[in-house]
Order: sequence, then C-alpha cells, then structure tokens
Amino acid sequence: MTKVIFVACLFFPVLLFAQAKKPQPKARAKTGSLTTVSIDRGKTVYSQFCLSCHQADGSGVPNMNPPLIKTKWVLGPKTVLIQQVLKGSQGKVEIDGDTFHNTMPAQAQLTDQQIADVLSFVRNSFGNKASMVTPAEVKVVRAKTK
Ligand code: HEC
Repeated sequence: MTKVIFVACLFFPVLLFAQAKKPQPKARAKTGSLTTVSIDRGKTVYSQFCLSCHQADGSGVPNMNPPLIKTKWVLGPKTVLIQQVLKGSQGKVEIDGDTFHNTMPAQAQLTDQQIADVLSFVRNSFGNKASMVTPAEVKVVRAKTK
C-alpha cells in the first residue's frame, strides 16, 4: 500500500507538469483581430498568386522578379500598390541599383478582399511594416482603373 502511495506521489506532479505543458491555443486565436485574420488569409493568396515569382521570403529572383522587401511600391502609396496588382506591369524596375526585367501579369481576377488581404500580408511580412489595405480601398482603385 505504501508503495502505491509512494508511486502516486511520484507521478502526480509529473501529470500536473504534463498538463501545464499542453500546447495552449495560439494567443492570436484568442484576440482573433481582423488584422491578423486578414494577414493570415493574405498569406494563402500570396502562396497561390505571387510566391512563384516573388518567392516565399519575398526576395524575388535576380534580374527577373523584384523583391517585395521595403520597396517604395510595397511601403509607398497604397493606390500605386493596388494598381500594380490590378494591372500588372512590364518593362524594367530598378531597386537599390539592381534591375529586373520580366512581366507581371495583371491579377484583376482576385476579389477586393483577396487583394486587400494579400497586400496587407506583404506590407506586414518580409520585414515590412505598414498599414493594412482594406477592400474598400481596393474597390475605389479598381473603379478608377477600369
Ligand atoms: C509571373 C510573375 C509574377 C507574379 C505571379 C507576380 N508578380 Fe509582382 N512583379 C513581377 C515582375 C516581373 C515585376 C516587375 C515588373 C516591371 O518590370 O514592371 C513585379 C513587380 C511587383 C511589384 C512592384 C515592384 C516591387 O518589387 O516592389 C509589387 C509590389 C508586386 N509585383 C507585387 C505582387 C503581388 C502582391 C503579386 C500577387 C498578387 C504578384 N506581384 C505576382 C512578377 C510577378
């Protein structure tokens, strides 16, 4: 009997410890703010429609696809950035002395929400820190871009 109690005493703290170490739901899930939700969705849009060219870490491909790290497009006026996605562009882009030649196809098939999400993701990833883009902002630019 004493042996049982001894073993119980030995394991009880271990059990408590194991319980405490159970993975807690992520803090962000608790807040579940619109901001993090939009950025999370944006990551998925990015993987599908941008990653192949701009790469998982936003560093782009030398001489071809420009990086999305602290460029004047990414951090600059949102109108220009939204237009870049809606209309695409081709020709030549110069960033920090490096030039990039390739075509970025227009991504106008994406919804206002998807564009807002992906740009909010880009503006808050890869070391970037900038304000969110809202679907309403995309809508305004889309109406003017047509
Ligand atoms: C087929 C490859 C390709 C895809 C897909 C693509 N891009 Fe681009 N992107 C480019 C190229 C090439 C340029 C430079 C175009 C030029 O020379 O005008 C560019 C330029 C940009 C720029 C402005 C320059 C800079 O680096 O800051 C931004 C911002 C951008 N892309 C964001 C995106 C986003 C967001 C997506 C997904 C919705 C996307 N791109 C999808 C190839 C691509």
